[in-house]
Amino acid sequence: MQTRDKDILGQLFVCTHERQVGESCSQAGALDVFQKLKNRSKTDVTWQGKVSVTKSGCLGFCHEGIAAVLYPARKWLTGIKAGDEEAVFDWVNAVLEDATSDP
Ligand code: FES
Repeated sequence: MQTRDKDILGQLFVCTHERQVGESCSQAGALDVFQKLKNRSKTDVTWQGKVSVTKSGCLGFCHEGIAAVLYPARKWLTGIKAGDEEAVFDWVNAVLEDATSDP
């Protein structure tokens, strides 16, 4: 085992959990939202090498729409809907800007 440093500003975990019964982010279109944000992280110069996008299991906000959390800022976003990718992108950028501008 070894420790590693990775020089990124943020890691966005997007819940893509799927349930057979009951509400889940997957039912709300999370896989598509995740994939669009993941693609953005690879192609947009604002995020390339700075923001990673990762699938996560249930984040505990299943009844509110798609959930995501941004680390290390520890900021949560719930109620994401299919088509909100641009708003999520802007939100992540605003959180990261706040985090890097704090004295
Ligand atoms: S299934 Fe996504 S927060 Fe629970």
